[in-house]
Order: sequence, then structure tokens, then C-alpha cells
Amino acid sequence: MSETDLIQRDVRDGVLSLRMNRPDKKNALNRAMYAGLSDALEAANGDETIRAVLLLGGAGAFSSGNDIADFAGFDAKAGLGEVMRFLRALTALEKPLVAAVDGLAVGIGTTVLFHCDLAYATPRSTFRTPFLDLGLVPEAGSSLLAPATMGYQRAFALLVLGDALSAEQAREAGLVLAVSDAAEDESRRAAARLAAKPPEALRIARRLMRGDGAALNERIEAEARAFAERLTSAEARAAFAAFLGRRG
Ligand code: COA
Repeated sequence: MSETDLIQRDVRDGVLSLRMNRPDKKNALNRAMYAGLSDALEAANGDETIRAVLLLGGAGAFSSGNDIADFAGFDAKAGLGEVMRFLRALTALEKPLVAAVDGLAVGIGTTVLFHCDLAYATPRSTFRTPFLDLGLVPEAGSSLLAPATMGYQRAFALLVLGDALSAEQAREAGLVLAVSDAAEDESRRAAARLAAKPPEALRIARRLMRGDGAALNERIEAEARAFAERLTSAEARAAFAAFLGRRG
């Protein structure tokens, strides 16, 4: 599938919708998908007709996280290229970001939500970050944003222990705003309402609430250095091989 099929774009009423579309892999994010998302987020900043961005997944799978085959094939010389570009595009985004989750949100499928201004989930959604069991460490700024959002111990249970959150627990923890069967419709309505606000005031309000992002960007870089080292560790390689070989 090409980048454009894997990330479907649609602009309506000032809302740019980006739908991850790799259903056969439960929306595992591969390099082309990170590149597609980055292209869209970077372009949104310079496009005054886009007033809000909506991130969507598929039925039953928002995202199963980073493609483990890409992790297994990680080339230390090439580095985390597309992933880092995506994370930088996320923190540099000047438009509000809204998400709707239905079903699985694993790894970056969960940690991306810490970057959202509003997130909605269906009752069957689950949120899980199995970093440690893969020999990895928290990423995408989650080591900073998760404790700030939900308190240290709940963040530790999510990011380090690897405990899953139900939709209701995610709402209580502040990871999503609301849980409903109509999560996608709700997210669309919220994005449309944001798109109708005075854009300059919206940009300033968002910047005031989020800060300048310097500490977040620094943390993302620090996490990435540790993450890249872990990707070639014996612990991680064994975990990737176990996942990729489980049908064999
Ligand atoms: N990377 C690569 N492939 C993945 C994937 C991932 N993160 N998540 C799912 N897939 C693939 C599976 O290998 C399978 O492919 P196949 O049909 O070619 O064998 C397909 O997507 C469907 O997944 P499956 O495991 O059959 O679905 P499930 O409903 O039983 O389980 C998950 C779904 C997400 C719980 C399970 O696939 C899983 O644990 N994936 C890994 C999640 C992960 O650790 N992500 C990285 C976080 S840092």
C-alpha cells in the first residue's frame, strides 16, 4: 500500500482528518505511515484553511504501535529517522489535535494521545504500552507527559509495569476526555467546533496551555537516545524474534 492509502486524508470544514489505514496489521505504524503523518502535520501548519487536525484509526484498532518488523530491522546508522520526524511534527503542530480511539491503542497508539488536546474513546478501547516487555523504554515524551497527566504511580504502572487501561480507566486518568459508542462522531464535532473558533486566539491559548515545548522536545530526544540503544540490545532482539516467530 502506498503512503496515501496507509494514511487517508480528508479536509472538511477546516478539519484535516488523518486516518491510519493498515487493517491487516491492526494499524501497526511502519515508516511510510510515519512519513505520511509527518507530511500532513508539517503541511497543516502553513495552511490557514486547516484549523484543526483529527487523528483516527480503524474499527477495533486505533493502532497496535510501531511495526515490530521495523524495530527488528533497526539500523543504528540510519537511526530513528521517520519516527523522530513524526514526533517533532507533533510537538511543532500549531493546530489543535483531536483523536478518536476504537479498540486497540498499543505503544505509540497510546503515547500519541498525550499530545492530543482532546481524545475520545469507545467503551471497548484498551490502552497499553508494553515497552519494558520488549526490552524498550518509554518514548514520544511519555516519560514526561504521563506522570504530569495521571500522576507518577499510574504512569509507572502504564509505562513500566505494562498494565492495560480500560476506556473508563483512561478517562479517569485523563488520557481521554470521554467514552462513548459514538467516539468518532464526538471527536469530529469537537474538531469542527475548534475549527470555528477565532484561529489566532486558539493558537495563543494552546501555546499558553502547552508551554514552549522545550522541556518536552529535550525529553523526546533523551528517550530516543535510550530507545535506539535498546533496539539493538539482546533483550529487545529476543522479544522481537519471539513476536515475529510466534506463528512459525
Ligand atoms: N508490528 C507488526 N505487526 C503487527 C503488530 C506490530 N506492532 N501488531 C500486530 N501485528 C500484525 C500481526 O503480526 C498479525 O500479522 P499476520 O496476520 O501477518 O500474522 C496482524 O497484525 C494481526 O495481529 P494479531 O496478533 O493476529 O491480532 P490480535 O488481535 O490477536 O492481537 C495485538 C493484536 C496488537 C494485541 C498483538 O498483535 C500484539 O501484541 N502486537 C504487538 C504490539 C506491540 O508490542 N507493539 C509495539 C509497542 S512498542
